[in-house]
Amino acid sequence: MGILDKHKAIETHATLLMVLSLLVVTIGGIVQIVPLFYLENTIEEVEGVRPYTPLELAGRSIYVREGCYGCHSQMIRPMRDEVERYGHYSLAAESMYDRPFQWGSKRTGPDLARVGGRYSDEWHQDHFYDANSVVPESVMPPYGFLFNRELDGQYIGDLLATNRMTGVPYSDEMLENALADFTAQADPLGDASGLEARYGADVFGTAVNVRNFDGQPALTEADALIAYIQVLGTMVDFSTFTPVASR
Ligand code: HEC
Repeated sequence: MGILDKHKAIETHATLLMVLSLLVVTIGGIVQIVPLFYLENTIEEVEGVRPYTPLELAGRSIYVREGCYGCHSQMIRPMRDEVERYGHYSLAAESMYDRPFQWGSKRTGPDLARVGGRYSDEWHQDHFYDANSVVPESVMPPYGFLFNRELDGQYIGDLLATNRMTGVPYSDEMLENALADFTAQADPLGDASGLEARYGADVFGTAVNVRNFDGQPALTEADALIAYIQVLGTMVDFSTFTPVASR
């Protein structure tokens, strides 16, 4: 009996065919999926990438709440037109502390993966109040209400703790000082040395932006959102970065 005859036995028995197909798919699936559970094998460590500060993390929650991902992606693909428009293609490590990631799949507006530092805070303020005031043809909705909604950071420690539960390496010290760091980042006249010591250049190689992001006295949702937007894509220094493949 040749191998083809044996195969005929499989092809003529629907149940056997189904069971064996399932077996093959299962093995294939396991081989593909299991390594991904060990993230350290999958994500190349890249210098500069750090967990979000409490204020940035709060801003990120507002980004998710407002559904910004419905119009914006945060993933620059390694294709020439994208790289020329948005900058270096996104690295896996750059979203390793995102729970969940904001890669998105819709681009009504531009990709935001490297928008940090591209515009001034004032530009973002005008743009969130009324996008048409800076980009006349824009269809982005207004978000002026964010400037009226004050944040007291009541639950910021819990937000960090929840992220830590899912694997973001916030230290005990970061959790204990979550509220202090939260307010310090938006207060240019205050003392941000603790925030710097926990998240700053000496630890991660990336400086923390400390300033009044929304341009008004109160700490608002606009402060948090702009702090988040301004850090996007700025953690890795691409003038010194070389991918593993070309080392
Ligand atoms: C209905 C779709 C839509 C939604 C929702 C939306 N945007 Fe936009 N956004 C756009 C469009 C279109 C542009 C390009 C024109 C412009 O700059 O306004 C844009 C531009 C931007 C830019 C400037 C990007 C650049 O590189 O020039 C930023 C930053 C931005 N959006 C942030 C946000 C944030 C944050 C939210 C959620 C609070 C949001 N957008 C929600 C459509 C949207």
